[in-house]
Amino acid sequence: MILLNPGPVNVSDRVRQALLQPDICHRESEFSELLSDIRKKLLQAFVPGEADEYTAIILTGSGTAAVEAALLSSMPLGKRAMVITNGVYGDRMSSMIKMHRLGVPDLKYDWGVAPDLDMIELALKQHPEVGTVAMVHHETTLGFINPTKEIAEIVDQKNRVFMVDSVSGLGGEALDIGGSKMYLVAGAAQKCIQGFPGAAFVIVRKGFMESVMKYPKRSWYLNLANYYEDQERGTIPFTPAVQVYYAFREALDELLEEGVANRFTRFQGYASSIRTRMQELGIQAVLPPEVQSNTLTAFHLPEGVSYEHLHDELKHAGFIIYAGQGQLEHKIFRVANIGALTKENIDGFLLAFQSTLEKARK
Ligand SMILES: Cc1ncc(COP(=O)(O)O)c(C=O)c1O
Repeated sequence: MILLNPGPVNVSDRVRQALLQPDICHRESEFSELLSDIRKKLLQAFVPGEADEYTAIILTGSGTAAVEAALLSSMPLGKRAMVITNGVYGDRMSSMIKMHRLGVPDLKYDWGVAPDLDMIELALKQHPEVGTVAMVHHETTLGFINPTKEIAEIVDQKNRVFMVDSVSGLGGEALDIGGSKMYLVAGAAQKCIQGFPGAAFVIVRKGFMESVMKYPKRSWYLNLANYYEDQERGTIPFTPAVQVYYAFREALDELLEEGVANRFTRFQGYASSIRTRMQELGIQAVLPPEVQSNTLTAFHLPEGVSYEHLHDELKHAGFIIYAGQGQLEHKIFRVANIGALTKENIDGFLLAFQSTLEKARK
């Protein structure tokens, strides 16, 4: 089955084979080595040239675990977080913060609408109690790239901490973590990195991590200070998904061998083939090209064709597409183009799509 949903993705045979390592105990030196390799490779891939300024913290869990750990660990006593949101995943961060009554009103925009930079500056002036500003890098809701660099600059000028959810971005979309002085960036293994679900991580600015160690602990499992303390000693506070970590290391090797920039180009090429052919078939993209990501496209459903029909026919042909969310659930469909895919996979999908459409239009 070819997965065109935004993760989990098809992995290479090499990554799949890496699951089949000897059984090890996570309190032994073999695991320490594995953990240390993963941490180093993450920094090599995502903060090249500035690896000394950052640390990578690995957790067992899905991307949401990394996002929640980063957010909840980022606030000293008496400070609050402000979420800039224009999609489902931004709203999710807002819910996390509200659950702890640590929020201020969100800076909320419609899906696919870029946040207003002046409004962010103003809101930070009005809310001196805000210590952390959180935003999604690639909003998977529509495949929208947020102006992360510009916002990072404002947040840094105002001496606040910028926390970025790049769960669906890292490995597929450019993000200058070091250059833009991002403090915390959450990611996961099972999307553009092409690993398996179960391993997630937060890349944290080292100087800031020292402060985090003194902040209140708001979760037992999802607390970055505990992980950092243990990981610096080569261990981990809880039982990790050991086999998934082996595959994660292999996926990182694969990413570094391909080259992070080359991976962007590969994904961009797939996205471009999909968009061009869809347009020829009369299928309209939801977002204008300038804000579309490299990795996912949201399309309006063809007239008279339900998502369920489209999905089931394509699944029958060997391809998984993805539904819209919230108010667009019955109006759009999404096609991601991440994972160990080939050009032939994309061409095969487009042929299957064309034939499904022709049958439905008859
Ligand atoms: C931007 C973004 N953040 C967070 C998540 C949550 O990740 P997970 O489902 O791995 O918890 C996703 C998942 O699609 C996502 O796209």
